Amino acid sequence: MKHNVLISEDKIAEKVEELAQKVALELKGQPTILVGLLRGSVVFLSDLMRRLYIHGVFPEVDFMAVSSYKESLESSGMIEVIQDMRLPVEGKTVLLVDDIADTGLTLSEVKKIIEKKNPAKLLTCVLLDKPSRRKTDLKPDFSAFTVDDVFVVGYGLDAGDRFRYLPYLAALDEE
Ligand code: PRP
Repeated sequence: MKHNVLISEDKIAEKVEELAQKVALELKGQPTILVGLLRGSVVFLSDLMRRLYIHGVFPEVDFMAVSSYKESLESSGMIEVIQDMRLPVEGKTVLLVDDIADTGLTLSEVKKIIEKKNPAKLLTCVLLDKPSRRKTDLKPDFSAFTVDDVFVVGYGLDAGDRFRYLPYLAALDEE
């Protein structure tokens, strides 16, 4: 399937650096855990945490895997935790990291799950924000790019489990 570069590697690196500076201002000095949602967040998270380190944030890193709302959430309003995080969060700031806020259902539900674990603070950070698709009142605390309603792949984002490896963000040519 053909794809067209939407946001280049250099532009992503520039934005992730900018974002890390903003996030660091908010997190510096607080015990922090980055929680990445598997699988889409891994490329973004791995770049973000290294830029955060450069800006004086030394976070713990953990992951969660949840079932996709595409099968369950829209009907039931629930998501299933397939793999929960392992580190305790009490008294710490959690930065929940994902590749994209689309309908917002995934992040809204995961926020509820993490809130129950009593973090000191819970913030959300996404690479891409697609507000035109939102079905909840979720507003990410931090986002690198706001995009229109196009199907984006690369830099962790997939189409049928392909394209996660692209070093840039691309729009899928669905023809
Ligand atoms: C994708 C993406 C987000 C979620 C965003 O995950 O990684 O987690 O959907 O959509 P929403 O805002 O409409 O809830 P997916 O379930 O495709 O799993 P993946 O991370 O393994 O690609």
